[in-house]
Amino acid sequence: MNEKPKQPQTSETFGETAKTKDEISRRQFLTYTLMGTGGFMASMLIIPPLRATLDSVLQKKQEEPMVAVADVSEITDEPKRFTFTLTIDDAWVKNQKTTFTAWVFKSENGDIMALSPICTHLGCTVDWNSNPKYPEEFFCPCHGGRYSKDGVNIPGTPPSSPLAVYAYEVKDGKLYLGKLISRS
Ligand code: FES
Repeated sequence: MNEKPKQPQTSETFGETAKTKDEISRRQFLTYTLMGTGGFMASMLIIPPLRATLDSVLQKKQEEPMVAVADVSEITDEPKRFTFTLTIDDAWVKNQKTTFTAWVFKSENGDIMALSPICTHLGCTVDWNSNPKYPEEFFCPCHGGRYSKDGVNIPGTPPSSPLAVYAYEVKDGKLYLGKLISRS
């Protein structure tokens, strides 16, 4: 009954209300913007190491393929050529069968070396002991590239880096070869 008559909203009070609403929304906007920017920056800091960790875990899971190539008893200190097939997955093709060749021998300290025959100059195929002028060397017929027995390029010949080596392991008397490792 004694209800207080509502105060008419003057243009001044209306202006204050609008101003307050405006300030809140501006504040909210700033808060959201800062949160968004902070979140983005945090993700930039967190994602790369996380991805690197995941990659290494996944890489470990997808073990590099190794294939039995020869009996260790066949390997002497004279390089011998072996061919083998690896099934490789790359970005474009899955289960791609690829044939590789390796020059395999026992080095002076008894370690096994498995060299790629692909010349590091322009990709021709090197051969062991094939040029009578350069005995006990790998020789590339394309441009006269030469490598010592351990696959190291001989200075003054076109190749500028050693022959790549295959990853290897010996298990139950067998030599297994895997991916190529560049030595450039
Ligand atoms: S490709 Fe072997 S020396 Fe050029």
